[in-house]
Amino acid sequence: MKPREMGPGIYSVGAADWERRLFDSLIPLPEGTSYNAYLVTGSEATVLFDTVDPRKTHVLLENLAGVERLDYVVLHHAEQDHSGSLGAIVDRFPGARLICSPKAAEILGTHLRIATESFTTVEDGEEISLGNKTMRFLHTPWVHWPETMCTYLVEDKVLVTCDLFGSHLATSDLFVREAEVIPAAKRYFAEIMMPFRPAVKRNLDKLAPLPVDLIAPSHGPAYADPSVIVAAYRDWVEGPPKNLAVIPYVTMHGSTLAMVERLTAGLIDKGIKAEPFDLSVVDLGGLATNLVDVATIVVGTPTVMLQPHPVVMSAINLVGVLRPNVKFLSVMVSYGWSSKAVETIASMTAGLKAEIIEPVVVKGLPGPDELALVDALADAIAAKHAEAGLL
Ligand code: FEO
Repeated sequence: MKPREMGPGIYSVGAADWERRLFDSLIPLPEGTSYNAYLVTGSEATVLFDTVDPRKTHVLLENLAGVERLDYVVLHHAEQDHSGSLGAIVDRFPGARLICSPKAAEILGTHLRIATESFTTVEDGEEISLGNKTMRFLHTPWVHWPETMCTYLVEDKVLVTCDLFGSHLATSDLFVREAEVIPAAKRYFAEIMMPFRPAVKRNLDKLAPLPVDLIAPSHGPAYADPSVIVAAYRDWVEGPPKNLAVIPYVTMHGSTLAMVERLTAGLIDKGIKAEPFDLSVVDLGGLATNLVDVATIVVGTPTVMLQPHPVVMSAINLVGVLRPNVKFLSVMVSYGWSSKAVETIASMTAGLKAEIIEPVVVKGLPGPDELALVDALADAIAAKHAEAGLL
């Protein structure tokens, strides 16, 4: 493929990965992903912003086939989906200076086994001229690694953001079609950025004064109207929880399912949006996306060897890692003769700092008395949502 021009002297040279279905051997990619790299030609110098995942090195090299000289390669982020082709780029363009933050030099050194001295580090706010274009480097740590930075092309008002504002979406579109991308960007935020909400907020504040005509991330299409994604990020980072209860559960013989169905119906009756997720089949990205807005989580689990079902344990562990801004938490447990599931879940979720609502623990198949306890749980959740001004 040839480089595709996105603006004067600004070209897309990365790769879409339509086939990839899993990131980090964990995150489902129902729509694939892309590893965007950008070639910018100034009047005096040429720069490549980021490389691509090693599985697409050949695409990047093909896209750069007509490029005679690279003066700089800017590495915004050391993770291998953006840095993994650096070795091939250095072989092809041995004269290029490798630009990154000081922290990135350390991490790139250890992750790629490239000598730290090979990198030219730039401080926050430092600029390098390409002639008629100026690169201003802005340190934006912890979106989502400690070394992350953005580049602002001053004259063009273009912000190159790497993971920030990205979306896992393989597409031939260079620019965003809003309705398509915002759900994908929200899912990406949930999976990658949500644990770092305070850092994302700090960096949004830092970038806010810049006039920006184009945001060019390293996953998914670019934003020709940056206000849309910036407003969405503001909501995801700073917005209050919504009137939403998420119910992740596993059922083995139907007892937990009976409670989940009763609770879901009860919450809907009371005007609360309820989203049950059968963890044995669900795409965890869908669950993560709902955690961006969640006010209440109710975990439903059978008891296996005294403990929550292992699939539930794994999901709770993931919820803990993603650190949603959840306000209320409860549990519905079924068991045969004995259970420590409530204690285990309470201990695993202590870091979320959510208020615990009285759990429902049922021996065997829930009957009318037990289902009445589920109704009481729905009442309690509705009362909490009302108190919090969500209902
Ligand atoms: Fe797209 Fe954190 O790498």
